[in-house]
Amino acid sequence: MEAIRARVARRALGTGDRLPSIRAFAATMAVSPSTVVEAYDRLAAEGLIRARQGSGFYVASAPPPLTLAEIGPKLDRALDPFWVSRQSLDAAAAVAKPGCGWLPADWMPNDAIRRALRKVARTDAAILSDYGATRGPLALRHLLARQFATEGVDAGPDGILLTGSGTQAIDLICRFLVRPGETVLVDDPCYFNFQALLRAHQATIVGVPYTPNGPDIERFADVVAQHRPRLYITNSALHNPTGATLSPQAAHRVLTIAAEHGMTIVEDDIFADFEPEPSARLAALDGLSSVIRIGSFSKTLSASIRCGYIAARTDWIEALIDLQVATSFGGVSPVAAELVLAALSDGSYRKHLDGLRRRLNGARRDVADKLERLGISPWMMPRGGFYLWCSLPVGCDSAEVAHAALNHDVVLAPGNVFSVSQNASRYMRFNVAQMGEPRIFEVLARALAATPD
Ligand SMILES: Cc1ncc(COP(=O)(O)O)c(C=O)c1O
Repeated sequence: MEAIRARVARRALGTGDRLPSIRAFAATMAVSPSTVVEAYDRLAAEGLIRARQGSGFYVASAPPPLTLAEIGPKLDRALDPFWVSRQSLDAAAAVAKPGCGWLPADWMPNDAIRRALRKVARTDAAILSDYGATRGPLALRHLLARQFATEGVDAGPDGILLTGSGTQAIDLICRFLVRPGETVLVDDPCYFNFQALLRAHQATIVGVPYTPNGPDIERFADVVAQHRPRLYITNSALHNPTGATLSPQAAHRVLTIAAEHGMTIVEDDIFADFEPEPSARLAALDGLSSVIRIGSFSKTLSASIRCGYIAARTDWIEALIDLQVATSFGGVSPVAAELVLAALSDGSYRKHLDGLRRRLNGARRDVADKLERLGISPWMMPRGGFYLWCSLPVGCDSAEVAHAALNHDVVLAPGNVFSVSQNASRYMRFNVAQMGEPRIFEVLARALAATPD
C-alpha cells in the first residue's frame, strides 16, 4: 500500500493509469500475490484505486497534491531533509542551532546593510515600486562579472542572471534541464536541500561518495557511465556539509568525465568568499561551456535580502530568463539587488570578510577541541567556512542524538539528512559559529550518554 501511495504521490502513477499486475508487483515487492490482492483491495476501499472487471486495477481519483516528504525513502522525520530546515527556520530565539547553515545575525555586516538601506530609501521611486529588468540591474551584474574575472570565470554582464536566491537559481536550472524521472548526480553527503529540490522536480537522485579532495573519481566515472545523469550539482569550494575543497586533479577528471557523457555541472559557489585563497573552479576550467555557476549572498551578507545569481552561456541565460519570467514574472527584487550592490560596494565589505575568516578560524579550532573532548572527531579540518563534519563515538546514532538534544532546545543536523545512501548515521554537521553557548556541549554530552549502542 505504501509503495503504491508513494508512486501516486510522486506522480509516477497518474489518474487512470493501470497498476502493475498482481503477479508482477508481488515479484517486485518479494511478497505473495495474496498480499498484493489484499493491499489493492484496501486501496480500492480507500478510493485511491479501482478495479475494472477483467482488466486489473487503475488509479481512481486525481492524485493528491505533491507532498515532498512522501517522496523518497520513508524516513524518521529527524532524517528527513525538511526536518533540519524547518527546525532551524522556525526555531524560537532561545533555541540553539548548531545544525543550521548560516551565521548568527551579529556576525553579519549589519552597519553596512543599514547604510545600504538608507541609500536605497533615498533612491528612485521606480526602484522602490516597479518590476525590475529581467536580468537584474546592470551595475550589480557588472560588479559580479569583474569579480568573476579575477577568478578566471569570464561571464560578462550578459552571462549573468540575477535571481531571488541561490535556491531559486538551482530551481530554474532544473526546470531548464531536468525532466521528471531523469537522473541527477549529487555528492554523498551533500547539502540536504539539493535532495529536497530535486524531489520537487521528481528527478531520480543518485549519489557519489565524497572524499577530502572532491568526489571519489573511480566511483564518479562508474556512476556517470551507468546512470548517465543529466546534471551533477556540487560545491567545489568548502563543500556543504564536509567543508572539503575540490583538488585541481579531481576538477580535471570531473570535467573530462562530464564531457565524455554530455553531463552539465552546476557549481554552487555560495561559500567561495570564505576561502583563504581561491581553489580550483570547474566554471573557470571549463569556461562556462557545460558548467553553470550559481551563488548568493545569504552566507556572507544577508539571507534576509534575497538575491542570488546564475553565470552561464549567454544562450542558456536567455532561456533561463524566460523561465524566470514564467515562474516569478519579476526576477530579483530591485530593492534587494540595490541593497546588495550598495553593501558590496561599501568599502567595509572586504574588511568584513577578512574579519569573518579570522573569527571562523578561531571558532573552528575551539569547537573542534571541545568536540574532541566528547569523543566527536572532525572528518577533516576545512580551510575555511563554518562547517565541521564529524563522526560521533562508536555506537552513537546521530538521529537519536539529535532527537535527544531537541528536547533541550538544541537543533542538530544528523548525518543521514545529507546522505543519499543513508550511510552517515554516525556523522553530524556542526556550525561552529552557532556554538558559542557552553550549554550546547553539555546537552551534547548528555545526548551522547543517553544513546549508547
Ligand atoms: C550549498 C548551499 N547552496 C544554497 C544554499 C541556499 O542559499 P540561498 O539562501 O541563496 O537560497 C545553501 C544554504 O544553506 C547552501 O548551503
